[in-house]
Amino acid sequence: MIIRSVIQGVGSYLPEKILTNADLAKKVDTSDEWIVERSGIRERHIAADNEKTSDLAIAAATQALAAAGRDGKDVDLFIVATATPDQTFPATAARVQAALGRPGVPSFDIQAVCSGFVYGVAVADNFMKAGQAKCAVLIGAEVFSRILDWTDRATCVLFGDGAGAVVLGVEEGKGTTGDRGVLSTHLHSDGRHHDMLYCDGGPSTTQTAGYIRMKGKEVFRHAVVNLADAVHEALAANNVSIDDVDWLVPHQANKRILDGTAHKLGLDPAKVIVTVDRHANTSAASIPLALASGVADGRIKPGNLVLMEAMGGGFTWGSALVRM
Ligand code: ACO
Repeated sequence: MIIRSVIQGVGSYLPEKILTNADLAKKVDTSDEWIVERSGIRERHIAADNEKTSDLAIAAATQALAAAGRDGKDVDLFIVATATPDQTFPATAARVQAALGRPGVPSFDIQAVCSGFVYGVAVADNFMKAGQAKCAVLIGAEVFSRILDWTDRATCVLFGDGAGAVVLGVEEGKGTTGDRGVLSTHLHSDGRHHDMLYCDGGPSTTQTAGYIRMKGKEVFRHAVVNLADAVHEALAANNVSIDDVDWLVPHQANKRILDGTAHKLGLDPAKVIVTVDRHANTSAASIPLALASGVADGRIKPGNLVLMEAMGGGFTWGSALVRM
């Protein structure tokens, strides 16, 4: 018998306000046609002025706890994956823990940008396998609208706000790929590419949060290669084939990246959960938002084999293979 970290509940939260491509075309020199053709994005949610990342995170986590039938007081680990924290410090996770949890349990943020949720799965899973946590809340939450240069049409059309959460609980498994829970995680980074996708501010440089800057074509090229590699690595480590995967739940950066990756993997596009058209790129929130969407509409069922993969600034990238 071995310890498995099992996803017991998922939840999500999207701000009420929707910004369509047509709305954006009134702000910058762009068009619905250009955005849909290059990215597959049709609309995105934008946080209200009084909504912070922690508000989105708490709403998503509350839903995930309810779905898991668990109380926040059961939780002994709170992790928020975010690149847009409420403040430079303390961690946004501390706000979530104060709102939902028991005083004294650990809480911290993970900063791996768009790969943050996959990094979070790895961290939570390792805490559980080490016997240091029995119930974890892992949230991806972002308000990228606050770090967008709304005069830069090359970036401001691509991102949105939102949060997704999972509750992970310890269960016993047989050590086979038939077990429920996290079967493997693989994480990578290559900091040599830090200037291809970054925020041009920070506490130790400009004392501001800064705005997103991106070399889109280079990011695209690296994304398709790294994401396909991350998938192959997960499949090989578990001795399963791409046909065994029920659902690919990728980071939702761009429909062309999703299609390019599926094509490279020889994966039926119908097995890819796609939300980028409605949510745009919500960075660390995009995988749990897509997962929650697939669970809510009944496509992702208990027992399904789900492969998550992501790539983001750093570069960082990785995968998590999970049986629901
Ligand atoms: N509306 C209209 N025209 C635009 C816009 C816009 N919003 N943005 C750029 N353009 C123009 C450019 O100015 C350029 O015009 P020019 O030819 O006169 O110079 C033209 O469109 C082509 O620009 P490119 O940057 O070459 O367009 P490309 O086909 O590479 O598409 C895009 C740009 C969508 C950003 C693409 O490179 C891409 O998807 N890259 C991946 C980036 C990504 O998804 N990043 C997300 C974060 S990373 C991650 O999550 C993995």
